Amino acid sequence: MGLIDVPTKPIKIGIIGCGHIAQKHLESYQQIMQREGDLFRITSVCDRVEESAKALAAKIAEWQDSEPMVHTDVHKMVVHYELHGADICTPHYDHHLTGVQCLEAGTNVLIEKPFGVTSRASRLILEAARKNKLITACAGNIRRQPPQRALHWAIHTKGMIGEPRLFYIQHAGYHRSNTPRAWHWRTDKFMGGGGMIMDRGIHFADTMGYLFGEPERVYATVRQHEKWPHIREGKTVFDDREDTWMVLLNFKGGVDGFWSSTAVAPGEPTTLIGFYGSAGSIIDDGDVFMAPSPQARVTRQGEGMRTLAEIIPEYMAALSAEDRGRLFPHGFEDAMTLEIYDFLRALATGTRPEIDGEAGLRTKAICEAIYESAHCAEAIPYAEVVDGFIEGYQREINEHWGI
Ligand SMILES: NC(=O)c1ccc[n+]([C@@H]2O[C@H](COP(=O)([O-])OP(=O)(O)OC[C@H]3O[C@@H](n4cnc5c(N)ncnc54)[C@H](O)[C@@H]3O)[C@@H](O)[C@H]2O)c1
Repeated sequence: MGLIDVPTKPIKIGIIGCGHIAQKHLESYQQIMQREGDLFRITSVCDRVEESAKALAAKIAEWQDSEPMVHTDVHKMVVHYELHGADICTPHYDHHLTGVQCLEAGTNVLIEKPFGVTSRASRLILEAARKNKLITACAGNIRRQPPQRALHWAIHTKGMIGEPRLFYIQHAGYHRSNTPRAWHWRTDKFMGGGGMIMDRGIHFADTMGYLFGEPERVYATVRQHEKWPHIREGKTVFDDREDTWMVLLNFKGGVDGFWSSTAVAPGEPTTLIGFYGSAGSIIDDGDVFMAPSPQARVTRQGEGMRTLAEIIPEYMAALSAEDRGRLFPHGFEDAMTLEIYDFLRALATGTRPEIDGEAGLRTKAICEAIYESAHCAEAIPYAEVVDGFIEGYQREINEHWGI
C-alpha cells in the first residue's frame, strides 16, 4: 500500500528537457513506481531535440506500463494534454520560460536548480504560480540526505558542538586543461547565469541556509584567472565562468562563514572543511559542494570524536514514525528520489514541498549575492538581492532575455 492515498492518482507527469539530469530523474521515478505503482504515470516527455525525447520515452516504457507521448514544443504539450506536474530539466536560461508556460496552462512545476537564471527570472515563475494558485518546487536535494539531516539534528537538537559560531569551506586544485572541450550552454554567461558558484555551488548554498539560516551580509571576490577554450561550431570560444571565489558570509543568527574554491591552483591541492561551535567542531575532507560527508568527524571538547556515519543511526532511531515517513518515505535515502517523492506528495495532497519556489529563490540569491558583491566590490545586504534591489551583475542577463 502506498503512503499517499488520495483520489487524484495516478498523477500525470511530464518531463521537459530530456538530457543528462532527466536520465537521473528517471531512476528515481522507477524506484518510486516499484514501491507505489499507482501513484503516477509519466504521460509525456518533451525535448526540442525529438530524438532525445524519443529515447527517454523508450527508456520509460521499459518499466512503466505505458509509453509517454513525445513532444518537441512545451506550449503545445501543456495546452493540449492534461498534466498535473511538469518536471523541468532544461538549461538554466529556460527555467522561467518553460516554468511560466506550464503554470499559465495550469500545470504545477518541479524545476531543476537554480530556480531561475536570475532572481528576477525566479520571481516571474513565483508570480505565475501565485496567480494560478499552483505549486512550485525547486530541485534542491542535498539537505535531504542522511548526513545533512543528521548534522542539522546534531547541531540544533543535540547541541553536539554547542552554539554554532563559524565555518570555513575551502578547496584549491587544478581542474583545467588547454585541450579544448566541446562547447556547452553552461560556459555561456547568458545561458548558465553564472559558473560553479551557482551550478554545483548552489548545493552548498542550500546546506548553508539549512544549517545556519539566511545571511545578513555577503562580501566576495570572484575571478577568472585562466581562459578555458571550448569548440563551438568549429571555432574556439572561451568559457565565461569564474574559476575562483572567496566569500565571507555573516548570517543573521550570528554565524560567520568563509567559502572559497578555485580550479586553477597548480601544485598540491588542499581541502579544508570545518564547522565550529562554542563546544566543539565538525571537520571533513570530502567534497566542498556536497559537505558534510559521512566521514566528517564530530568532536565535543573533552569528550572525544565520532564520525557522522556513527551519528546517523542515532538520528534515524530518534525520528518519530511520522517524521521518518515524511523525511525518508519507504526508507528512500537517495536525495533525488526524495525530492521527486516530495513533489508527487505535494501534488497528491496539496501540501507545500519542503523546497518550494520561494525557498529556491532564496537559496539562489545566496549565489547571486556573491556575484553581486564581486561586481560592485562591496559587502552587500543579502535581502536586497532577494528583493531585486541589487542586480548589477544580473542586469545584462535580464536584458539579454528581456526579463
Ligand atoms: N541536481 C543536480 O545534482 C543536477 C545535476 C546536473 C544538472 N542539474 C540541472 O539540470 C538542468 C539540466 O541540466 P543537464 O545537465 O541535464 O543539461 P543537458 O544539456 O544535458 O539537458 C538539457 C536538455 O533540455 C533540452 N531543452 C532545452 N531547452 C528546451 C525547451 N525549451 N524545451 C524542451 N527541451 C529543451 C535540451 O535539448 C537538452 O536535451 C540544469 O538546471 C542543471 O543545473 C542538476
